[in-house]
Amino acid sequence: MVTGQGILEADVLVRDGLVAALGRGMAADGAEVLDATGMLVLPGAVDEHVHSREPGMTEKEDFSTMTRAAAAGGVTTVADMPNTSPPIDSAERVARKGVDVAGRAYVDYAIFAALTDSNARALGGIVEAGAIGFKAYMGPTTGGVSPPSDWSVVLALRFSRETGTPIFFHAENGSLVEGFSEELRRAGRSDPAAHSEARPPVAEEVEVARIARMAAAVGEGVRAHVAHVSSAGSLEILEGARGILGAEVCPHHLLFTAEDYAVHGHKIKVNPPIRGAQHREALWRALRSGLISTMGSDHAPHAPQDKEGDVWRAASGIPGVQTLLPFALDSALRGLIRLEDVPRLTSENPARVLGIYPRKGALAPGSDADLVLVDPRGRWKVREEDLLYKHPEVSPYIGMEFRGRIVYTMLRGEIIYRDGEIVGRPGGRWVTRGGALRGRRSIEARERRGGSAVSGT
Ligand code: DOR
Ligand code: ZN
Repeated sequence: MVTGQGILEADVLVRDGLVAALGRGMAADGAEVLDATGMLVLPGAVDEHVHSREPGMTEKEDFSTMTRAAAAGGVTTVADMPNTSPPIDSAERVARKGVDVAGRAYVDYAIFAALTDSNARALGGIVEAGAIGFKAYMGPTTGGVSPPSDWSVVLALRFSRETGTPIFFHAENGSLVEGFSEELRRAGRSDPAAHSEARPPVAEEVEVARIARMAAAVGEGVRAHVAHVSSAGSLEILEGARGILGAEVCPHHLLFTAEDYAVHGHKIKVNPPIRGAQHREALWRALRSGLISTMGSDHAPHAPQDKEGDVWRAASGIPGVQTLLPFALDSALRGLIRLEDVPRLTSENPARVLGIYPRKGALAPGSDADLVLVDPRGRWKVREEDLLYKHPEVSPYIGMEFRGRIVYTMLRGEIIYRDGEIVGRPGGRWVTRGGALRGRRSIEARERRGGSAVSGT
């Protein structure tokens, strides 16, 4: 068993979907036994950052394809982002989404809402409806969610401090991105690498700095998290904001550098962009030192035709929910991080940040029995047909080989993935920090009455 606290040899007793006990030589009469000799048992990964594209952008991905891929990748809980069509920015839309995707989820799911100037004074109702937290897009992104004003950010941070609600930030400055892009376009640039120059480190760093200062002004106890940190300068700012502002890193920023545009082209076009090697090395150091506390995939799928055209037209985003845990395991099996870091970065800390620990993210008595069994001697050479996305062909991971192989994924005591196959029906449940029921009941009651008050809101 591998947990953030260490590695031990033990049996896991699962009862009623929960971890009932851990210990050696346990014999539970009549229990079904799964022999995990020689395997690593980890808590299911909690991917705090995915884009299922529901609602409204399902030509790119949908809840069923995204959560099947999650299950195959050892991810048992996903937190889904709100830059959809329409964006998830109200209590009604959160409640509607939670109900809509229910029968199509193969793993448990949480729902983020977008922070906007229109809802910054009404965050309580949105959490009541079941939102796990808020995402603030400080600059332009897929889905066109308008950035909140600084005052809206302060209101959200105060709300976070009072209620423990996480606020995730996409930290890129719109004015700088527009300015640099325009300059490069006028200079006639249209190659894939121009994307990194259009969104240079400073565009991220100024936003990280502003967020850090606003979070510090609101004070300790805020739960603020920078998504997909990518620049060395941002890490310096985060060092000065330890305990106030946390950070997530994505596998693609640890793996690729701007030189890889020559091989992958727009497949590695992503926001914030892939950068130079010195940034990548700084991210690895921050991961080892604990400055970066979570690894999320930022699974951001697009259709192949969205990735066509020149750099100014091609969509940003890399699909990655199925390769998140394999990447983390591979990093540990190669000695780049410790094995205990894997559950810490991909399960425990994300669950803590989302406020769902230890129900999720832990391998301990009383936790949901979400488990992953890994053969550490196995290998996975990623083939297009292994990836369960709607559009696997846009993945830059095809052809890569990971050490370790996921053999089983278990969700609340049920095997949902076994040796290359999804097993069973979509039994994923909505994960909230309490309060969701009210939103869900009211929407279901309204639907039973035949009302349509919800649609179009
Ligand atoms: O590259 C990105 N794509 N970065 C984001 O922040 C959004 C994402 C998307 O939704 O496509
Ligand atoms: Zn994202």
